Amino acid sequence: MNAHPNIALIKYWGKRDEALFLPTKSSISVALTSFTTTTTIAPADSYNDTLIINNTTADGEEKQKVTRFLDLFRKRYAITDHVVVTSHNSFPTAAGLASSASGFAALTKALNNFYNLGLSSKELSTLARMGSGSACRSIHDGFVLWHKGTCSADSYAEQLFTDDHWPELRVLVAVIDSNKKAISSRTAMQQTVATSPNYNAWVKRSQTRIPAMIDAIKRKDFHAVGTLAEIDCLEMHHCIQTTTPHINYWQQGTKKVMKQVKALRDRGIPCYFTIDAGPNVKILTLEKQIDEIARKGFFCYTLALAR
Ligand code: PMV
Repeated sequence: MNAHPNIALIKYWGKRDEALFLPTKSSISVALTSFTTTTTIAPADSYNDTLIINNTTADGEEKQKVTRFLDLFRKRYAITDHVVVTSHNSFPTAAGLASSASGFAALTKALNNFYNLGLSSKELSTLARMGSGSACRSIHDGFVLWHKGTCSADSYAEQLFTDDHWPELRVLVAVIDSNKKAISSRTAMQQTVATSPNYNAWVKRSQTRIPAMIDAIKRKDFHAVGTLAEIDCLEMHHCIQTTTPHINYWQQGTKKVMKQVKALRDRGIPCYFTIDAGPNVKILTLEKQIDEIARKGFFCYTLALAR
């Protein structure tokens, strides 16, 4: 089964319930349809699960996260078998994109299919959330809203608009560094919630930012979407950077590319940036600008077309 990674236009950062993966706020994303994770399930012939990613058997932290998720799944659906999970990412690791969202979404769909569970997309989304928060949004294509919800059963993502609503909206990734991040988003989120003096105000602002973003996407107002996405990302990173001890995901290249995006925009080229928990910069733009942006280039950094 397939799933695409997603990029949040209004970010999720921080949980109100660690065990249930319940977020402090709702978030909105768009699917990165040029990249796909494909996952299949087969019965295991031992009492262990096996995880194969891009033809290599995974172990360590990656394997642990998947085993934890499979244990939870088995408990919920009273299943005892162990499985072989084979997953393939169509996007190179060097694209610097996290595969956990598309990975857990594809795994959830594959389990549903393998065990013939007939789960609804709402159930699939709440389940994928327990693998990695942002995975609940990757159950869908297009523009997606993750409702923070009131409890585990209603904290799920739903599609707001299909991809066809706005095919001209494009996303390029400027790859600054494709290495694994030094501090996991899980740890950094906990630290931000616990210590950033700016966090509560950012969460509160999402009450107006979420409806504003939905309206901007509905109207296909690129400048409104870009402006909201950029400020929400900057404020999330400001919260992260003001935790104790201090965390910073940006590198020199991140700042150079952010500056360049702003400079291009000042020269009339429609583009905005957004950045997740890492140094790579996602550039939001429109189809007709892709060639010009690619021609201008972003220093020595590779640009990957993600949507
Ligand atoms: O789903 P996680 O635990 O990898 O967290 C994702 C957090 C961000 O990518 C920074 C923001 C988001 O909403 O996707």
